[in-house]
Amino acid sequence: MFRTYMFQNQKIVLIGGSSGIGLATAKRLIAQGAEVIIASRSEIKLQQARAQLGKQASAYPLDTTSEQEVQAFFEKVGTFNHLIVSAAETSGGPFLHTETAKARQLFESKFWGQYYAAKYGAPNILPNGSITLFSGVVAYKSMIGSSVLGAVNAAIANLGQTLALELAPLRVNVVSPGIIDTPSRIQLSEEARANFYSTIANKLPVQRVGQPEDVALSVLYLLQNSFVTGTVLHVEGGHVLT
Ligand SMILES: NC(=O)c1ccc[n+]([C@@H]2O[C@H](COP(=O)([O-])OP(=O)(O)OC[C@H]3O[C@@H](n4cnc5c(N)ncnc54)[C@H](OP(=O)(O)O)[C@@H]3O)[C@@H](O)[C@H]2O)c1
Repeated sequence: MFRTYMFQNQKIVLIGGSSGIGLATAKRLIAQGAEVIIASRSEIKLQQARAQLGKQASAYPLDTTSEQEVQAFFEKVGTFNHLIVSAAETSGGPFLHTETAKARQLFESKFWGQYYAAKYGAPNILPNGSITLFSGVVAYKSMIGSSVLGAVNAAIANLGQTLALELAPLRVNVVSPGIIDTPSRIQLSEEARANFYSTIANKLPVQRVGQPEDVALSVLYLLQNSFVTGTVLHVEGGHVLT
């Protein structure tokens, strides 16, 4: 029987595609026929991800905090169909006791990284393409210890919405994940992580934390639906209602 693949002949750039939500999204896209280019800092993570993704994936080392690196990356990649930027290294802590340099670092990674990617990636995106950026639930549900991350996430949501007007007809959307079980919390002990996830799960209407796959489904929806732009898509199990 003849089978059509949703993303056949499409080239999709996934910055942050070597782990968590980005990697789950890359897997889904490849299953739908896409050619995927993943990029992140660690060669080891890239190699491991590539081994899982197979021949339809290629991998480039890239640190999005360097404007020059991002510019050079897109010169190498050339034209493509969709850009997804899930790359970020985040941190938290009490406002009065967090060093300003650490707070700035969060903006460097999550805000400026996505800003550079959108700025240098957009001119290479083919007609009917899109950009998907990443915000996060703490912009919408304030949490102690997340003052800077909340501000970064809110800034990204606003950037995405304004770019949807300015870069039109290129579509620009933002995903705002809730608490998702990804390697981003690897620095926590297994016990601390399990406790955190069960506390959150007990609060949420869906009674579980998210999986990377939950968010990947939402990213695919944003890529596919050509009538959606300037949206912030919340994938958080009802977290803001709690
Ligand atoms: N997980 C959650 O609970 C949650 C909640 C709300 C929002 N989010 C957002 O969702 C997005 C994806 O998060 P995730 O949980 O999937 O995280 P993750 O598993 O830690 O993956 C992050 C990816 O970004 C890459 N990366 C980090 N800093 C980078 C840099 N400077 N340049 C290039 N690549 C970089 C990492 O690879 P390298 O280390 O190799 O660079 C990795 O591939 C992020 O924007 C995150 O803030 C996540």
